[in-house]
Amino acid sequence: MSLPTNPIPAGDIRDKLIIGLDVASVEEARALVGRIGEAGTFYKIGYQLAYAGGFDFARELIGQCKKVFLDLKLHDIGNTVEEGVRSVAKLGATFLTVHAYPQTMRAAMAGKAGTDLKILAVTVLTSYDDNDLVEAGYASISAAELVARRAGQARDLGVDGIVCAATEAERVRSIVGPDCLIVTPGIRPAGTDAGDQKRIVTPTEGIRLGANHLVVARPIVKAADPRAAAEAIVREIAQSAA
Ligand code: C5P
Repeated sequence: MSLPTNPIPAGDIRDKLIIGLDVASVEEARALVGRIGEAGTFYKIGYQLAYAGGFDFARELIGQCKKVFLDLKLHDIGNTVEEGVRSVAKLGATFLTVHAYPQTMRAAMAGKAGTDLKILAVTVLTSYDDNDLVEAGYASISAAELVARRAGQARDLGVDGIVCAATEAERVRSIVGPDCLIVTPGIRPAGTDAGDQKRIVTPTEGIRLGANHLVVARPIVKAADPRAAAEAIVREIAQSAA
C-alpha cells in the first residue's frame, strides 16, 4: 500500500502540538478536526476513540496528510506485540505507545523495523504512586526509581521516545540523552482549567523542560473556539522554541 506524502514541511512547528481526540465518536472527531483546520497537524487517538471506529478515522486523517499518534499502550507476549505493531506501521501512524517492559519494547522495535513509525514507551503510568506499585506487587522499588530504570532500558533498546509528565522531563532527558523524543501531557495554557491533571505546566514551561511534543486535549477539545486555542498554543511553542 502506498501512503500519502505529507505536504507539511519537515520541522513544522505545528507538529510539536499533538491534539488529543478524546471524544466518543468519529463524527465528533471529524467535526473537531474540521474546526481546528490548518492549526492542527498531529492528532492523538486513545482507547475511547480507537474502539469506536478510530482506526478507520486514523486512516482518514493520514489520507488528509495529518499525523496520527495511536496511544494504545500495548503490552502482551512478544509475538503478539510485534505483529500488532507491524499492522499499526502499515496503517501509517507516526507514533505508537507501548508499556516500557523490555520484552514488549524489543518486540515493538522489531515490528516497526523498516518503517517510519516511532515507538514511544510509557515508563510508569502517572496515575501510579508508590502505594499503587506495592499493591501491584512491586514492593522493592519506588515509582521514581522505576521510571528511571525503564527510561534507561528504553534508551538501551533504541526506543524512539518516552511519554512522561513534563515535571519528569528533565530527569528523563538526563537518562535518555538528546536524541530520544520526549512527549508530555499535563499541559495547560495559563488561565485554563487543570481538570484532573495534578502536575501541570504551561506550553512554554513544557518546551523549556525539554519536551519535543506536547499533548493537549481538553484545553482545545472543550474550547469555545478550538482553532483559536490550538493556534495560541502553537504560537506559545514557537516563542519558547525560538
Ligand atoms: O485533556 P488533557 O490535556 O488533560 O489530556 C491529556 C491527554 O494525554 C489525554 O488523552 C490523556 O489520556 C493523555 N495522558 C495523560 N497522562 C499520561 C498519559 C497520557 O494525560 N500520563
